[in-house]
Amino acid sequence: MTEYKTVKEAMKQGSGKVSLQGWVYRERGSSKLKFIVLRDSTDIIQCVLEKDKLGDKKFDVADKVQVETSMRIHGIIKEDKRAPTGYEIAVEDFEVVGASNEFPITKDQSTEFLADNRHLWLRSRRMTAILKIRSTVFHAIDDYFRKEGFYIYHSPCFSPNNCEGGSTVFKVDYFGTPMYLTQSWQLYAEAGIFSLGNIYTIAPSFRAERSKTSRHLTEYWHAEMEMAWCKFEDILKHAEQIIKFIVQKVLENNQEELKILERDPKKLEPIVKKPFIQMTYTDALKVLKEKCNMDVEWGKDLRTIEEEKLTKLYEVPLLVTRYPKKVKAFYMKVDPENEDVVLGVDCLAPEGYGEIIGGSQREESPEEIERRLRAQGEDPKSYGWYLDLRKYGSIPHGGFGLGVERVITWICGLDNIKDAIPFPRTMLRFNP
Ligand code: 4AD
Repeated sequence: MTEYKTVKEAMKQGSGKVSLQGWVYRERGSSKLKFIVLRDSTDIIQCVLEKDKLGDKKFDVADKVQVETSMRIHGIIKEDKRAPTGYEIAVEDFEVVGASNEFPITKDQSTEFLADNRHLWLRSRRMTAILKIRSTVFHAIDDYFRKEGFYIYHSPCFSPNNCEGGSTVFKVDYFGTPMYLTQSWQLYAEAGIFSLGNIYTIAPSFRAERSKTSRHLTEYWHAEMEMAWCKFEDILKHAEQIIKFIVQKVLENNQEELKILERDPKKLEPIVKKPFIQMTYTDALKVLKEKCNMDVEWGKDLRTIEEEKLTKLYEVPLLVTRYPKKVKAFYMKVDPENEDVVLGVDCLAPEGYGEIIGGSQREESPEEIERRLRAQGEDPKSYGWYLDLRKYGSIPHGGFGLGVERVITWICGLDNIKDAIPFPRTMLRFNP
């Protein structure tokens, strides 16, 4: 049985016989010599095929391979400073596993063309690098919550209620009854804490966002946590710690990928080393006025442009707290010291990336929740089960939701959130 090595493993071996399996990344040649750059998930490597060694028939097959042909290659590896990754394989034998049609993706294609061919573009070095960082981020979220003692808990994706306001729900026909695709795991998680204490999930959330911004998806992965007996400060602490933990894991595991993406790791190092900046919404408005010459009327939510200007002033994330009650969701607890604001927090990523986490202490008073639901045009009756949670041994609790693609977009330094997920869903892009 042939033992196949990955490109990385073969380069680590550095000399002697190796067998590899992968895809043709580039190819060029003359009548006697052919260069094939082979790629797999780990790296690329140059392979040299000589007519004199392989014989006319075999060389002819090699001469016809196109980009993205899948192959098995057997040969001798050695260091060669001129080769693209510093090693070269003198091929002794090979097999074509799957021939390739002419690959439609060549250099300098438009973003739209690449999006239409997403199923093929995923193989690019750029997308591979992003997907590896994405994998690190998901692992890190899990590791963080597990090390902090949280249980995994699941909410349904079909929901009779909306959590984050009716304007961004996807309505579905559930055997004749209208239902919604979940916007957040939270409401059902608030039931789960009475059983498990501290819980988390990583699951898709759905938002019927009509916005065509570079940071909104209609289906995104949402890492959420909910804590029993928690104080507002606990939410801020975990928001800061989890972001530090994720960034640290990416810095430990993905230096190569950051390089491929031309993302300067120095921009990420302060995230791990320095404390995040906390400010109230009211103070954020002052900073916007003084440093950015932007006037935001008190009571208006911060728009993308304002978050962008504000976060460009800092090298670490901001934890903006105590937003006006009227711009935030019905479940956020009113600040006992100021009834106009809620104990809510948005964590804003630096360099203009903006909101990556939204969280809050939860309102405990069923009467206040009912009032707020009515003010938002909702019928409190359809939230009967949720209001029950406040009637049977209610406790202080709270949590947050972290938009995983938002975090990946920022860490990778991407221009658009669409590249942070394999097959993006937005208002205008839902195929393939
Ligand atoms: O601030 P949001 O709406 O908060 C909630 O859903 C709470 N129920 C979470 C909780 O407390 N358990 O969303 C949380 C995060 C945002 O900070 C953002 O990172 C991300 O979800 N997010 C989106 N990401 C991509 N595309 C969208 N359309 C997003 N909408 C929100």
